[in-house]
Parts: sequence; structure tokens; C-alpha cells
Amino acid sequence: MKVTVCIGSSCHLKGSKQIIDTLQALVKEHKLEDKVELCGAFCMKNCVNGVSVTVGDKLFSVKPDTANEFFETEILGKL
Ligand code: FES
Repeated sequence: MKVTVCIGSSCHLKGSKQIIDTLQALVKEHKLEDKVELCGAFCMKNCVNGVSVTVGDKLFSVKPDTANEFFETEILGKL
């Protein structure tokens, strides 16, 4: 599963780094390193709704405080 977090300037300001850190920690905690590939990407043209995160080709808007919930439903729940 490929999870891409936008690190464009707008999303960066909204906490994309924090989201990457949270997701990385959760992936490690659940030992999913070989199942979940975390990537960064530049602006996904969805700045107003950022932080933009894609799982496969589905686009989501995640906030630093919803990153845990996002991980559980969209990553853990879809494996
Ligand atoms: S900076 Fe993330 S969608 Fe534009």
C-alpha cells in the first residue's frame, strides 16, 4: 500500500511533517514496514483542503490531530 503525504508549502504549514512522523511511528508500531510505503510528494493541487494524503489513488485531507484516526480507518482498516 502506498501512502503519499503532500509536503508542498501549504500542506507543510498545516503540519504535514507532523503527520508523516505520526504515520511513520504507527507503521513501525504495527510492524507494517513491508506493507505500507510512506512517501512524500509536492503540491497535489488540493491546498485548501490540506494536508493532502493519498492512499493508492484516493485523496484524503488529514490534519495532525486526525492522523491517528486516519491511520486506523484508511490504512490499518484497509490492509
Ligand atoms: S501544498 Fe499540498 S496540496 Fe498544495
